[in-house]
Amino acid sequence: MSQNDNDIVIVSAVRTPFSKFDSLMADIPSIDLGVMAIKEAISRAGVKPEEVDEVNYGSCIPAETALETDIPGRQATLLAGFPAESISLSLDRACCTSLTTLRLSIRAIRAGEADISLSVGSENMPRTPHLAPGLRTGKRLGPIQLIDNLFELGYGAKGFRPVAVDAGEVALEHGVTREMQDAWALGSQEKYAKAFASGKIRVGEELMPVVIPRKKGDPITIDKDESPRKTSMEALAKLKPVYGSPTVTAGNAPPISAGASAILVMTRKKAKERGLTPLATVIAAIASATAPREIAVIPAYSIRKALAKAGLKLDQMDIIEINEAFAAMPLVSTKILADNDEKKWKELQAKTNVNGGAIAIGHPVGASAGRITMTMAYELRRRGGGYGVASICGGLAQGEAVIIKV
Ligand SMILES: CC(C)(COP(=O)(O)OP(=O)(O)OC[C@H]1O[C@@H](n2cnc3c(N)ncnc32)[C@H](O)[C@@H]1OP(=O)(O)O)[C@@H](O)C(=O)NCCC(=O)NCCS
Repeated sequence: MSQNDNDIVIVSAVRTPFSKFDSLMADIPSIDLGVMAIKEAISRAGVKPEEVDEVNYGSCIPAETALETDIPGRQATLLAGFPAESISLSLDRACCTSLTTLRLSIRAIRAGEADISLSVGSENMPRTPHLAPGLRTGKRLGPIQLIDNLFELGYGAKGFRPVAVDAGEVALEHGVTREMQDAWALGSQEKYAKAFASGKIRVGEELMPVVIPRKKGDPITIDKDESPRKTSMEALAKLKPVYGSPTVTAGNAPPISAGASAILVMTRKKAKERGLTPLATVIAAIASATAPREIAVIPAYSIRKALAKAGLKLDQMDIIEINEAFAAMPLVSTKILADNDEKKWKELQAKTNVNGGAIAIGHPVGASAGRITMTMAYELRRRGGGYGVASICGGLAQGEAVIIKV
């Protein structure tokens, strides 16, 4: 595919470390994490706030952003020092969110409505408060119940089932056993540990530090992901399934995290004018959706849809990122992409999430789609270039996929 001045290129991509549940980062509102990522993304590219035509900002735990009322994107944009005239949008497409924001940024540039657009995803899951409905009008009799949106991360109030149940059942139907999911989880931890030890996941590339001031003493700096852990098949096998799932456990699910990611895009022409070397070219970005129960399958459908749009074949992809919403997702989706061919399935698994995934890194839901995109871009750059496709599933089986070339 030849280069063109109208290509959309990523000129800056950065994220905060992803926190563990009990972390100092858990006290930082998602809006403030978003501000950090916004400032870092534009400053790395030497772009001034007033030069960004539009900020598309996503968070998908509304109970947490509600602690600061609403429009987190507008608040983060202003707090990051953008002028009052800046255009922003706050959106929620569950875990797909920060690829949806990227797709909207691309669309705005293609439509001629923006020259430079910033895509941001931010989440602070551990900070999600319990909800106390009914207090405003009063409760005449009976106990007051608190709702925990974090528990199950499901949509039970409207009759949908927990994602972990759907993912686990569908995985088994595709012949993806609990043992396979545990083995994938172990692999995720091991691949991440190796990538981290070799300096791949570092400040200056996809990571930026989070600096937390203290009343007394030096500030505390968090400069690495907090959740990765050593484990073994024996330890994983001992864990009990959660949320009524047949297979999903604390070991083959991602932990609950805080974190933010930001990606700055413009046309290749604009990047040239500004003397910027693109990190990656966006070849195609698509959205998809299917029956809610099929959430483990949607990354496969999304990848096929993106490849069809780009006129490319799966074999042309040097690496693949499939978000580890649970281990079930990359396993089921690569199996479908391999058309159930065992050899092909193994080949696809070997090039999927080569530096580990959300099970090790954490999954601050609104920020993760941006994370898989930049992880892939930096890995392709280290390899000297190539194609990659990243896909993520979101609640009730929505999907996003992006194909990039470095
Ligand atoms: C799975 C989940 C419920 C676990 O929450 P938790 O119980 O607070 O998690 P913990 O880290 O305390 O782990 C529970 C236990 O498993 C153990 N454990 C976790 N990961 C392990 C691993 N890889 N190997 C061995 N043991 C592990 C912990 O040590 C802990 O043991 P303990 O009870 O003896 O202390 C929670 O992380 C979760 O909901 N994750 C999914 C989030 C999600 O749905 N994201 C969106 C997807 S669409």
